[in-house]
Amino acid sequence: MEYLWWKHGVIYQIYPRSFQDSNGDGIGDLQGVIDRLDYLNDGTERSLGVDAIWFSPTFPSPMADFGYDVSDYEEVHDDFGDMATMDRLIAEAHKRGIRVILDFVPNHSSSQHPWFVESRASKESPKRDWYVWRDAKPDGSPPNNWIAAFGGPAWEWDQRTQQYYLHSFLIEQPDLNWRNPEVEARMHEVLRFWMDRGVDGFRIDVMDRVLKDPQHRDNPPQENPRIRALAQAAMQMHTYDQNWPEVIEAVRGIRRVTDAYPERMTVGEVAGTPEQIAHYYGGAALDGLHLAFNFPFTRIWDDRWIAERVRRSVDAFEAALPAGAWPNHVFGNHDVDRFSSRVNRDGRGHERARVAALMLLTLRGTPFVYYGEEIGMANTDIPEKMLQDPARFYSRGRDQERTPMQWSREDAFTTGTPWLPYGNLAVNVEQQRDDPASMLSLYRRLLWFRRRSDALRDGAYTPVDGLPTGIYAYMRLYGDDRLLTVLNFTNDPIAFELPASLHTTETLIGTHDLPAAAQSITLAGNEGRLLRLA
Ligand code: GLC
Repeated sequence: MEYLWWKHGVIYQIYPRSFQDSNGDGIGDLQGVIDRLDYLNDGTERSLGVDAIWFSPTFPSPMADFGYDVSDYEEVHDDFGDMATMDRLIAEAHKRGIRVILDFVPNHSSSQHPWFVESRASKESPKRDWYVWRDAKPDGSPPNNWIAAFGGPAWEWDQRTQQYYLHSFLIEQPDLNWRNPEVEARMHEVLRFWMDRGVDGFRIDVMDRVLKDPQHRDNPPQENPRIRALAQAAMQMHTYDQNWPEVIEAVRGIRRVTDAYPERMTVGEVAGTPEQIAHYYGGAALDGLHLAFNFPFTRIWDDRWIAERVRRSVDAFEAALPAGAWPNHVFGNHDVDRFSSRVNRDGRGHERARVAALMLLTLRGTPFVYYGEEIGMANTDIPEKMLQDPARFYSRGRDQERTPMQWSREDAFTTGTPWLPYGNLAVNVEQQRDDPASMLSLYRRLLWFRRRSDALRDGAYTPVDGLPTGIYAYMRLYGDDRLLTVLNFTNDPIAFELPASLHTTETLIGTHDLPAAAQSITLAGNEGRLLRLA
């Protein structure tokens, strides 16, 4: 088995509009990222120590969905810089041993992409079939009942050519037709275009929707009232427009393209049960995605932060993966509330975020860290009139987790007016950098320890049974390198004896002070520790 950078490494997600602005327009940009690379990894333990950065889309876009509506797949958005800056960013990142992952959005383009403009011009257009066009039903209504992910019908009527086009997301995001071989070939060219420039991999947006039922059958209603209540799109099961069995063939096609280059990786956004997600790795041949996002931690809210429940979800993913497939874990991204805010009903979300960090960085598999998690950024309350995200499919949209990176108490993100308001600037990098008790210090310790630990990078994952309710404990074992993580998910102290077979010799890293290793352990509420085993 080969251990490549994307297995060993920690991947850090940058939301480019919000990381660092270099030109005072209030919007983060690529030069800003270059200026902050040393923060991410300068080769010393002063820096965070990540191995790769994934950018949410950096391509030209009318920004209807903040870049997930791409109008040119092979350019850089003016807001972010130009191709020369991107090339420099790739080179500067590589100099520091940081890999660069771009966001590939294959399911849909912008409605302003020249391909769609041409496609919608006439029914005879050579690009007509590059998108999904269908006649109305005899009564004029859309071809089927599919609901777009952001609400409303997934079909938009085109007056000029008298047909509907499919958009699984916004009206401004028409779905590309991957059944047309020209589309697939052209999208493969996009991948080569970026790999030729040195890009190391792709996060693939909604991979699970790229092919749908060719008969476009109606989706059945969702009967579960709890799920129905989540969003308009959750009123139906996405039987025919998501996780359609043929999608795996499109995945394999992408994999063949990336396999022609050394050490490139893909991580796909897919939804479903552990089995459905594991399927995207390609089965025994492992010829699918290198990684398929494992999202259960992003769906943890107060009531679900339960040791037994979290363990079950880790175990279920491990069990579902085909032999040799590599797990991954994600607590946050640009689509979900910040973790510490999701588990903050009693005001102790920050403590839980420390436990989560210890877990994320000691579990088996590639950890994804969303910018700002490492300093414990929380959701930012944004006044209604300043909200920007068009997708209000739940609550107030996604702006609250996309606010500017909090570098210091002053507004170091920009010299101008930030595109979204700052969160609580008292939580910032500068203040945490030299504080050994800070979240940033905890992250740095874990990241640098992980880098040198065979057990954390490659070791087996073995959960420990028989400990008190509220404790999740697991071993990571690789030859003589034997580690134990113990996590208290409750607010109360819990004391327990380790089984005689587990002899601890050293407390390595913890959310609290580090007591000497012993057979009996007392964890404070929301305390976690990493220990060495004999
Ligand atoms: C994915 C992205 C999300 C975007 C959507 C449509 O879910 O993560 O931000 O809005 O796809 O592209």
